[in-house]
Order: sequence, then structure tokens, then C-alpha cells
Amino acid sequence: MKVRHIVAAFGAAVLGAMGSTGGVAQVASAQDSADAADGRQVFEYWCAPCHAPGPGHPGTQSLELKYGGNLPAPLEEREDLTPEVVKTFVRQGILSMAPFRKTEITDAELEDLAAYLAQ
Ligand code: HEC
Repeated sequence: MKVRHIVAAFGAAVLGAMGSTGGVAQVASAQDSADAADGRQVFEYWCAPCHAPGPGHPGTQSLELKYGGNLPAPLEEREDLTPEVVKTFVRQGILSMAPFRKTEITDAELEDLAAYLAQ
């Protein structure tokens, strides 16, 4: 993790030196540094208890009812999720899914998680 942050900071500095605007450089570096493999670990820890496949997972069961089989109920099988959608639900919550604070899932971890689920 630490190394990745240093790399991300370095990338932003290089982009900045190349004359991009600060905002664009930040967005680009956040997306470039998003690591789906790390995101998978975030998912396993925070999301799988509710969103893993099969019975006993309230998120999966709720999505089964919501979509009635038109979309896969387990999030990892979805192909329609964008990083933006994932980030919005994670920070805002929905029904029995409480919003996740930045002390629980940092912005960097959320980028990884969103990249993983949007794959
Ligand atoms: C306490 C159980 C619980 C946890 C933990 C949880 N969720 Fe959820 N999640 C739900 C429920 C319940 C819904 C609502 C499903 C519905 O609308 O019927 C939901 C909905 C969602 C949706 C909306 C999907 C859609 O198509 O409407 C996304 C995206 C999502 N969760 C992502 C996550 C991610 C990513 C995590 C981990 C950071 C997570 N959730 C953790 C229970 C949970």
C-alpha cells in the first residue's frame, strides 16, 4: 500500500509537471493507480458478508428480489457496474447497507474496490 501511494504521488507530480491541470492530473492518477487485486481484498473484508453468492447474504438476497433474475444477484458477477455507481452506493448506503466512512474504507481503497467490481 505504502509503495503504491508513493507511486501515485509521483505520477501526479509528473502529470503536473507535464502541464495538466491539477484536477485532471489527480483524477488520472487515482484511476491509473486503482488496483483491482487490492480491491478484491477490500470486497472480501467489507462486502462479501452481505454480497457473496448464495443464501445467508442479505445484499445478494435483496438484489435477487430487486432484479428478479434480470441481473446476477452477487455483485462480483455484475457487468453493468461502473466505478462511479459502486463509489456512490458505498459512501451513501442503501436500505440495510450503512454508508462506509473514510475511516473504514479510505478513498484509495474505494478506488481499488470500484475498479475490481467494474471489471
Ligand atoms: C450489511 C449488509 C451489507 C454490506 C456489508 C454491504 N452491502 Fe451493499 N447492499 C446491501 C443491501 C441490503 C443492498 C440493497 C439491495 C436492494 O436494493 O434491494 C445493497 C446494495 C448495494 C449496491 C446496489 C446494487 C444495485 O444494483 O442496486 C451496491 C453497488 C452495493 N450494495 C455495494 C456494496 C459494496 C461495494 C459493499 C462493501 C464495501 C457493500 N455493498 C456492503 C447490503 C450490504
